[in-house]
Amino acid sequence: MGFSSSSKKWLLEGYRKVVGGLMNPKHKRFGVLEEHPVGQDHAQAAVESHQTLKDNIKCLKKEFKIYRWNPDHPSQKPFLKSYFIDLSNCGPMVLDALQKIKSEDDSTLSYRRSCREGICGSCAMNIDGTNTVACLKPIDTNTSKATYITPLPHMHVIKDLVVDLTNFYQQYKSIEPWLKTKKPPPDGKEYKQTPLERKKLDGLYECILCACCSTSCPSYWWNPEEFDGPAALLHAHRWISDSRDDYTEERLQALTENDKRLYRCRTIKNCTATCPKSLNPARAIRQMEAMKSRNPFSARVAETI
Ligand code: SF4
Ligand code: SF4
Ligand code: FES
Repeated sequence: MGFSSSSKKWLLEGYRKVVGGLMNPKHKRFGVLEEHPVGQDHAQAAVESHQTLKDNIKCLKKEFKIYRWNPDHPSQKPFLKSYFIDLSNCGPMVLDALQKIKSEDDSTLSYRRSCREGICGSCAMNIDGTNTVACLKPIDTNTSKATYITPLPHMHVIKDLVVDLTNFYQQYKSIEPWLKTKKPPPDGKEYKQTPLERKKLDGLYECILCACCSTSCPSYWWNPEEFDGPAALLHAHRWISDSRDDYTEERLQALTENDKRLYRCRTIKNCTATCPKSLNPARAIRQMEAMKSRNPFSARVAETI
């Protein structure tokens, strides 16, 4: 494929922006993404993808095979539709490719997105077999193979890449994700925490409710209504860990009064492996089980997960 001088200029400028804006040249790391190893990996992959583009400048047409299904034509079976994108004229992430397809090629394609920077959780989907958020997933610039995009697995599809999250949000609501107290704040104004108490919420409060973890969990696939799933349980642990909350026992009791809401987790750890925010729902679940059993050995095991 021919390659114009304007495209070459675009590539070089994009590469400089990504490297110059994100990377700390001294440490060869991405300073703004400290403490986010998956973010570091994504940024590194974006840099490398751009480098690959520069190196393989001859063929920049990339095929995307995208799941399509329209409820207005229910008799038509779901199918994968091919789209070809000129990568020299597209942003580095999979969401950029979807935006390009929708605006230039096929406006009927449906998917969710909002923040385009891994904050809102709405662009979650399955890309080449892995649940992730499309705005943080670099395009695989190997143009000899297609990228497959399908909805989050084991969910009811509303249209194309949009799935029904009603049950997921209902489970989130069921853990009562707000501060519950039994007495007014000591100073009559606000509930305070020490820095150490606040630190216990790290690794919990960052969840963006993208549902990548719950929809990758085999236990959730088989028991979507009874098992709360890793996302809701991570949030339950966030409130149970909050020094200002007075309902720790009641929260634990509610989660364990049957054998399904919490105990259906089998520690397969798909949830932790897929989380685009590097969180560890499997450990949160084990920690709650250890708190309930008050078994010091279980507590030590939970720390190793
Ligand atoms: S560790 Fe538990 S919640 Fe996570 S994927 Fe496995 S069974 Fe599901
Ligand atoms: S724990 Fe991770 S994968 Fe699960 S909903 Fe939160 S951000 Fe998404
Ligand atoms: S668009 Fe918000 S997380 Fe991707």
